[in-house]
Amino acid sequence: MEKLTPPVASGAKPLLGHALEFQKNRFTLLQRGYREHGPVFSLRLFKQNVAVLVGPDLQKTFYMETDKKLGIDKVYKSLRAMFGEVLFIAPHETYLQQRPFVVQAFRRQKMLHYIKVMQSETQKWLDSLADEGEMEITAEVGRLVQEVAGHALMGQDFQAKVGREFWELYLDVGKSLDQVLPPNLPLPKFRRRDKAKARMRDILQPIIAERRRHPQQYDDFLQDFVNAQYEDGRVIEDDLLLGLVMALMFAGHETTAGQAAWTVIMLLQHPTYQQQVQAEIATHLPYGHPLEPQVMAQLKHIGWAITEVERLYPSADLNMRTVEEDVTVGDYLIPKGWLVQTAAELAHKLPALWTAPEKFDPLRYAPGREEDKQHRFALIGFGGGVHKCTGMNFANNEMMVITALLYQQFDLELVTEETGIERSLGANRPTKTIVRYRRKPLDQLVSPTPAASAGCPHIAGAQVAPS
Ligand code: HEM
Repeated sequence: MEKLTPPVASGAKPLLGHALEFQKNRFTLLQRGYREHGPVFSLRLFKQNVAVLVGPDLQKTFYMETDKKLGIDKVYKSLRAMFGEVLFIAPHETYLQQRPFVVQAFRRQKMLHYIKVMQSETQKWLDSLADEGEMEITAEVGRLVQEVAGHALMGQDFQAKVGREFWELYLDVGKSLDQVLPPNLPLPKFRRRDKAKARMRDILQPIIAERRRHPQQYDDFLQDFVNAQYEDGRVIEDDLLLGLVMALMFAGHETTAGQAAWTVIMLLQHPTYQQQVQAEIATHLPYGHPLEPQVMAQLKHIGWAITEVERLYPSADLNMRTVEEDVTVGDYLIPKGWLVQTAAELAHKLPALWTAPEKFDPLRYAPGREEDKQHRFALIGFGGGVHKCTGMNFANNEMMVITALLYQQFDLELVTEETGIERSLGANRPTKTIVRYRRKPLDQLVSPTPAASAGCPHIAGAQVAPS
């Protein structure tokens, strides 16, 4: 029997198809398609057909067919216009040449250094807060994540020297992201992108030139890239280096900031679970104790909360591919020339896999339940297969450090009663949410050595309580 193409979700408009709804609120559109047709359905973005696949087996097909019948390099056209031919937006052969550089830069030994950077930047942030006050958590965490990315990826001086201007320009590049419009239309947002890119290049070029002149003086992520060589001994070209650095900053900034902010918000909204986190911190990371990697491994409740946020609020929920050769999925045929996408936010709430899927319940990952282990492709907040997020451990460690140190040193309270999701094509994040904070009193300090508190000026020199 001849196979049919996936059925179309209702609401397509003449010429535009679902393009406007997709730009404005893709989640409702995807929910409707799923409700009407089940796990395989399709959308129209202008003339482009897009098949949507929902559920672990279909997600497995999506991620495992990537670089075979499904292509990743051409689909994120606007990313290519932003960063050039780097990483998965480069042609496959080029991707294979570049991938080892990136994987190498995230190896375990390096991660231990990055964790130290995360701790020192988080501590600096906490030290800069007043003893009590209110903050908009996503914006605060967003700035902190920029400090961490600048310091960890570009070196200690980067933020102080050029950070502010760099991140302002980066905003203009980020705002140009668009999955629907051709990226070279003469629109103001695309012009601003190109102007910002040129200026970012001007900023980064002398930094790279200095690294090439004095390679022995540096030993960090950027230097790894500057020193890296292709198999034939060539070094990475300056333009590619710039593109890679910018792309990594992009991949890791808003995504991490969004999920880190959600983690704090969700803990505050769930006081019973929050108490378990506080008890865990009181046991393994009392006020004044440094956050060593061995301690991080013991903060299980924070780790589960971070995974639960990945499930409920995946910040990068839109993974797309081009169909290079006809693919059959179940009863349907997805023809060459179509696009195909996953829908993490929908898939992460399938009742067949997750108990009470709408509920924030981090204990679903605890031993004995481990709902995420039922299927390798059940949880896809960091993608899957070959292109699974290279920065996943970096991001999870960073979210852990931020949450742990914040709770270690501050009492928190939620002021904003309800938080919604601000969806964007870059990364989803919480809507504005105000958190009230109060620094813990020094008599809660238990560290036998004030220096162990990572240099906090509020703690240094304080009377140390007996442990
Ligand atoms: C919570 C934070 C993050 C989330 C939710 C996230 C999510 C994702 C997802 C879903 C993909 C797969 C895209 C696809 O298959 O179409 C991906 C790929 C990638 N991410 Fe992340 N990411 C995060 C943080 C980071 C960080 C911190 C970095 C690096 C600094 C990073 C670097 C990358 C890279 C290089 C890839 C491409 C991997 C490849 O194609 O080989 N990400 N990320």
